[in-house]
Amino acid sequence: MKNITIAIDGFSSTGKSTIAKELATKLKYVYVDSGAMYRAVTLYAMQHNLISEEFFLKERLIDALNNIKLAFKFNPDLGFGEIYLNEVNVETEIRNMKVSRLVSKVAEIPEVRKKLVEQQQQMGINKSVVMDGRDIGTVVFPDAELKIFMTASAEKRAKRRFDEFLDRGEQVTFAETLKNVEYRDHIDTTRKDSPLVKAKDAIEIDNSTLTRKEQFEKVYKCALEIIGSD
Ligand code: CDP
Repeated sequence: MKNITIAIDGFSSTGKSTIAKELATKLKYVYVDSGAMYRAVTLYAMQHNLISEEFFLKERLIDALNNIKLAFKFNPDLGFGEIYLNEVNVETEIRNMKVSRLVSKVAEIPEVRKKLVEQQQQMGINKSVVMDGRDIGTVVFPDAELKIFMTASAEKRAKRRFDEFLDRGEQVTFAETLKNVEYRDHIDTTRKDSPLVKAKDAIEIDNSTLTRKEQFEKVYKCALEIIGSD
């Protein structure tokens, strides 16, 4: 079987990570959640009082980038790597609403993107990787053999994310969740550096009405067509 690179991009809460994890498990590939890296940098900025709803000390964050060490460590119970920020597991903390409100501002900074993209490219150097994010098929791995672009209506996406927040016991409203999803979509698609766009050669999947199983089968079939074609 041929080793390939699989890039999964799309709007917030489109189920990219679900499909990426399932594919990686099935193919015995490494799964990398690039969004977790932007979230971890945001958490660092919050912990060091460099960003809040009111202010953003961008230059100070850029100066501090060399102090930020990110790593994924495989958790066999979960079947994927959890993210560590300077040796601390922050996998759960980075998913909260406070980080979600600020992450797209951090992800707009070219210096931040440069650092994270380099690390992502390094992680995919041997192929056999499934990475999800916003710019994976366009910037990180423009030569990826399989590119998927996931979409779904904003309401559907906000409902999914709201249910995740509730499961984790976070006190947020549906309206707030929808607002955050739409806000990030806007910043992510309009930023100057690596905006979220569908790569020309990406396969678009709208999963508004697909079950998890149907979605998996669709993407897995696409992967097998490539992997088996050599
Ligand atoms: O899971 P969700 O769709 O909420 O987003 P995520 O994948 O955790 O990404 C969080 C944020 O990081 C996005 O809204 C983007 O602002 C940024 N991001 C990015 O700019 N480029 C990536 N490759 C991945 C995430």
